[in-house]
Amino acid sequence: MYEHIEKVRTDSSDNIQNTIPPDMINKTHQSDSRDLSEIPDSSIHLVVTSPPYNSRKLYDDDLTLHEYLSLIKEVFESIFPKLVDGGRIVINLANIGRKPYIPITDYVSHIFREIGFVQRGEIIWDKGASAGSSCAWGSWKSSSNPVLRDVHEYLLVFSKGTLKRHKGERNDTISKTEFMEYTKSIWRFNTVSAKKIGHPAPFPEELVYRCIQLYSFEGDVIFDPFMGSGTTGLVALKTNRKFLGFELNRDYVDLANDRTELYLLNRKYG
Ligand SMILES: C[S@@+](CC[C@H](N)C(=O)[O-])C[C@H]1O[C@@H](n2cnc3c(N)ncnc32)[C@H](O)[C@@H]1O
Repeated sequence: MYEHIEKVRTDSSDNIQNTIPPDMINKTHQSDSRDLSEIPDSSIHLVVTSPPYNSRKLYDDDLTLHEYLSLIKEVFESIFPKLVDGGRIVINLANIGRKPYIPITDYVSHIFREIGFVQRGEIIWDKGASAGSSCAWGSWKSSSNPVLRDVHEYLLVFSKGTLKRHKGERNDTISKTEFMEYTKSIWRFNTVSAKKIGHPAPFPEELVYRCIQLYSFEGDVIFDPFMGSGTTGLVALKTNRKFLGFELNRDYVDLANDRTELYLLNRKYG
């Protein structure tokens, strides 16, 4: 049960970094993330993602908890060989349900450790006033059955192999102030409007920015297996990284590519 604690490596990672084919890089592909056979092994440095929530949203097939966790297991088992030694994953999750409460984060951490990832930590994203004010109090002003109204989500952080990345010639881009702030386990920033972005569950650029700054070097490859509207790709480009995105839904693939291509055009001619 505790083998994963004994196995943890802290030596510098090896430096095997295979190259992603040029026609795949900086694009979102209409592909199912359960099959990553097109991606070379040891080619991804960081994954930042939020899987589909297991609640009725436009893109969900209303999966049972078992089906949902099987999807997570299949996708992240496929990702394991694609990460470089020391590569990282940050997965954004919200716990759901009240009858009973379903600690998705608990299940997912367990699955990740079974796959062989080493957990680095757990960040609480305090969404504050932007969290939306659910009125599902349970028993109003009574201890009979009060219900918690979550104003936070989680970011679970994992490494493959060793906790320490081999830096080589690569540069850090994080500032002193950012480092002091982002290494705290509670992050506070607002959500982003689904309507404005055109996707039912986008995460804010700030979330991706912090993960990229803290957990990757300039020039690294950032992968999002559930790319949605392309936020991960956009921030990867803004921070001088490369990206690769997989997304099932054709409309979201187009939205993601529009966002990243527009940014690249503006950078070139703007
Ligand atoms: C929570 S959303 C991601 C939103 C994204 N972080 C953003 O900022 O827009 C999850 C996405 O995963 C996609 N998805 C679900 N199952 C998938 C699979 N097997 N392979 C690839 N994408 C999938 C859904 O279509 C949905 O757009």
